[in-house]
Amino acid sequence: MSGTDARTSGIVVVGLGRAGKARVRDLKQKVLGENAVLRGVISRRKVEDDLPTLDWDEALSREDVNALIICTENDTHEQYARKALEHGKHVLVDYPLCLSAQGGKDLFNLAESKGLICHVENIALLLPAHQDFKKTIKTKDLSLKEGTARLEASFASEWFNDINRAGFPSFSGVSTLECLTDLFGSLTLKEAHFVHETDRHVLTCKLFTSENRPLTWKIERLRECTARKRFQEFIFEDGTVLTLPPPGPPPQPTPGHKGLFARDLELFLAKVRGECSKEIIAEHKKLVLDCLELAEEIKKMTGF
Ligand SMILES: NC(=O)c1ccc[n+]([C@@H]2O[C@H](COP(=O)([O-])OP(=O)(O)OC[C@H]3O[C@@H](n4cnc5c(N)ncnc54)[C@H](OP(=O)(O)O)[C@@H]3O)[C@@H](O)[C@H]2O)c1
Repeated sequence: MSGTDARTSGIVVVGLGRAGKARVRDLKQKVLGENAVLRGVISRRKVEDDLPTLDWDEALSREDVNALIICTENDTHEQYARKALEHGKHVLVDYPLCLSAQGGKDLFNLAESKGLICHVENIALLLPAHQDFKKTIKTKDLSLKEGTARLEASFASEWFNDINRAGFPSFSGVSTLECLTDLFGSLTLKEAHFVHETDRHVLTCKLFTSENRPLTWKIERLRECTARKRFQEFIFEDGTVLTLPPPGPPPQPTPGHKGLFARDLELFLAKVRGECSKEIIAEHKKLVLDCLELAEEIKKMTGF
């Protein structure tokens, strides 16, 4: 690449919604240093900012672009990620990677066949509270008795209450399945129910850990919902109770500070630059694919 050193990653952000703006903010503020360079954005709307805009052909053909970050609606992720990979670009996809288990496998296979990275964001895994839980469970060798993960929220955007665009709630909420799997290992599905009304979607699942301990997962999305309530409680055999405070939206980092999206980008770039072990890359891939499988199983069980 002309005028840049070998560690420079030229990045294009696709989609300028909440997630895309957070990516652009971090890249503009250079929170990851001079080697993570924003080449521009692809947006279907007129971009008011002073940002350089690119069309797909330009982004995919420019040699100084090596990676795309996909921040658009869920039903576009698979198509956009495939397009980027087919043109030799690494890809970071804001979760969910796609809306089917097979689609996920195909994308990882495509990336691997081309020696590229396909990284899927899940900033909830990076939350200090989640990391603390993981450490506590491991170091104290805690045995789960039962657990609950609940989310009550509005449809975050207009497209979110259209299941064709957002995906079935087990896909649009797959980050929670990843968190539960990250804490307790692979999960088995016992029950799944879905209430689908115009202004209200409720998914309730009963999952079991490999030690046959129950986990209840409930997502309730409402049109009229002012506060986002997120709650997790895990009760262990020795009486220990771990409760997640509602994390809410990702904290807004102060300039120069690495927030959750920046740390996710850092992880992606470490993979791209060969600074991340093969084991960690394989672990992340397994987590994503296993949870897409589970999301699909949940959808099938509800009969939706
Ligand atoms: N928000 C988060 O904290 C967060 C966290 C983790 C993962 N994600 C994932 O990131 C993806 C995008 O989520 P989001 O929260 O950023 O959704 P969003 O704000 O609704 O943006 C989605 C897309 O809608 C378009 N858009 C944004 N504002 C618009 C407006 N005023 N009018 C018309 N179109 C508009 C943008 O595309 P164009 O620029 O092309 O118009 C944008 O990429 C989803 O897959 C989500 O699961 C989000």
